[in-house]
Amino acid sequence: MAINRPKGTEDHLPAGSPKLTLDVSAQAHAHLVNTARTVLERAGAQRIDTPLFEEADLVKRGVGGSTDIVRKEMFTVYYFGDHGGYILRPEGTAGIVRAYLQNGLKQLPAPLKLWLHGPMFRAERQQRGRLRQFHQVDYEVLGSTDALVDAEAIALMVEVVKTLGLKQVRVKLGSIGDPQDREAYNQYLRDLFSPVRERLSGDSQDRLERNPMRILDSKSEGDQHVIAELSVKPMLAFLGEEARAHFGQVQKYLSDWDVEFDIDPSIVRGLDYYRRTAWELHHEGVGAKSALGGGGRYDGLAEQLGGAAVPGIGWAFGVERLLLAMEAEGVELPAPEGPLLYMAALDEENVPYAASLAMSARSVARAEFAYRAMKPASAFRDAERRGARLVALIGSNEVAQGGITLKNLVSGEQTLVETSDLVAFLAEHGKE
Ligand code: HAM
Repeated sequence: MAINRPKGTEDHLPAGSPKLTLDVSAQAHAHLVNTARTVLERAGAQRIDTPLFEEADLVKRGVGGSTDIVRKEMFTVYYFGDHGGYILRPEGTAGIVRAYLQNGLKQLPAPLKLWLHGPMFRAERQQRGRLRQFHQVDYEVLGSTDALVDAEAIALMVEVVKTLGLKQVRVKLGSIGDPQDREAYNQYLRDLFSPVRERLSGDSQDRLERNPMRILDSKSEGDQHVIAELSVKPMLAFLGEEARAHFGQVQKYLSDWDVEFDIDPSIVRGLDYYRRTAWELHHEGVGAKSALGGGGRYDGLAEQLGGAAVPGIGWAFGVERLLLAMEAEGVELPAPEGPLLYMAALDEENVPYAASLAMSARSVARAEFAYRAMKPASAFRDAERRGARLVALIGSNEVAQGGITLKNLVSGEQTLVETSDLVAFLAEHGKE
């Protein structure tokens, strides 16, 4: 029986694959990452890469013991003779903060802006836009508590999606306050939900003990019914003075820069490390429950990981979800480029010569060749299918004369070029 890829994973396919959609197109993934890189590097972000697996404790302490990620979705890595204590990373932030602390990046000018792209792993139930191996573009800023950094991070996230051509996106902005504000809110929720404990789902009864705020994010209809009945006050009502002032500043900067956002008074993120500013980016085409991306401030995380205090803030996009949103909006990608030159021999003995000309042309342009001798009509058809701009046919005459005729498939124009001038000709022609 043929072996299939594991559930919840995707292959990223080449252009022209049957039934290709953007979320599984390798070209679309590359386009998205390049666009994000351009936007983020213009803002001063530098690339960082961290391992795909990390110590289990990093994930548990970083992401938080009460989260679904740690409780239900961790992929544990085992190998011979090992203690089984590694986890495939479910997100990028904890690893980046670990790398910052471990490699002395504090010595670099602050705030330090970093970005990362790569696969993340969460053992979730597979649905559209919810995978077990998915990809994130992640942006982190370390070393500043300034609200200007928060606002810039949000503005950059919006700029990436706008540059990609997306229109129907909304930022939902909130604050989950400082730790004491969050504790006061959790106490309020404990007092409110305890009398109706029995009516909550098993998961939410559990959350009532560990992290009551997460009840508000429950996907159970029954829980949502109870929440509506109790007219729960939002987190924003519990912000202390400093967190409130910080939140006000973030909003003011965004408004000054015309970055649109909606206040979400009860934002709950799925990770425990957040403080103060927290937000999500939603899209009409992908569904209300699934965010394209999310982020927030995490000033206590470095200490929680055993390091010095380093404030931080950042966000991550789900690359597949962004691509689904682009598909839903009908955003067109630039057409994949074919080769500048396609070279075919008219008889078998000249195939290696045609190949050597094509290979020398690769110093200046993309050049391909036919591996078998071809009749002119099939060579032209093949070149067209590959999207080539120029075709050259090599027969005994061309070899004897030391020149080749290049036919431009777009204009129909033919040019005789000395083989010794081919590379220079292509270098010039490739610029058009
Ligand atoms: P997150 O909200 O857990 O945040 O994930 C960010 C984005 O990753 C989500 O909005 C979603 O688009 C995508 N995503 C998450 N899980 C899946 C999945 N199973 N399948 C497909 N896409 C998924 C974080 O990961 C934080 N580290 C963001 C952050 C960076 N906060 C501060 N800095």
